[in-house]
Amino acid sequence: MSYILLDGKDLAGRMKAEMREKVENMAAKGVVPGLAVVIVGNDPASRVYVNSKKKDCAEVGIRSFEYALPEETTEEQLLGLIDTLNEDDSVDGILVQLPIPKHLDEAKVIRRISPKKDVDAFHPYNVGELMIGTPIFAPCTPAGIMELIKDAGLEVAGKNCVVIGRSNIVGKPMAMLMLHNNATVTICHSKTKDLKSVCKQADILVAAIGKTELITSEYVKEGAIVIDVGMNRTPEGRLTGDVNFEDVKEKVSAITPVPGGVGPMTRAMLLVNTIKACNMHKANMLS
Ligand code: GUN
Repeated sequence: MSYILLDGKDLAGRMKAEMREKVENMAAKGVVPGLAVVIVGNDPASRVYVNSKKKDCAEVGIRSFEYALPEETTEEQLLGLIDTLNEDDSVDGILVQLPIPKHLDEAKVIRRISPKKDVDAFHPYNVGELMIGTPIFAPCTPAGIMELIKDAGLEVAGKNCVVIGRSNIVGKPMAMLMLHNNATVTICHSKTKDLKSVCKQADILVAAIGKTELITSEYVKEGAIVIDVGMNRTPEGRLTGDVNFEDVKEKVSAITPVPGGVGPMTRAMLLVNTIKACNMHKANMLS
């Protein structure tokens, strides 16, 4: 069976070209979207992600402001910075790169970000809006996945969608977006019984597990769409997904590669949300 390669790098590139034009038009009216990126501590993966996000912003003309805070930053200092950024009109979006050091209360930090600047859509206010189907900001990874599926002309309504993983960042919002698009949704997790047979029912299988190439052809129904959210490193340092691409590719109708699938879409959606935030904050200057 031949399959469609869901090329996130390509779609993200097309989206960025469109966004660049949009931002140029805004800049011509004196409005430049701004994204504040906060990183606390020395997690090497977070450093790579933050650098990528800054580069993406520069590519489309969004101004980015990096706040790199030391590992020993106190909660009071971090919350104080968020308060300042909430009040700063040049900042449309605020992103605190996760994970943050253990001595800081992640839930408290997320709640401190103004929902109007919460371009990750992690604040409970935005989670609630998503739940009732009126999101202001779409959560980046799940929204990027929906864009990728839609761009390929693939149908979601009426399909059985199985999401593996129940994180607040991916699994739960993914399930909600699939539901809003009229899929029948199952969420699996580490306590799910007979994961293989549940996955085998999926027309759309979203793997957000964090285990190298767990998903083999035994988990996949003939003709399924397979979305791999995994970003794992083997002990040798090789980047792998949660899906064994080579093993499943002959069985699927469409599949995302790792790298070059979901990752670039997550990054593109952050830019979409930042531009949206700016449009909301500065509507009076843009009309
Ligand atoms: N860490 C891993 N993924 C993400 C993300 O999408 N946003 C933030 N802020 N931190 C992350």
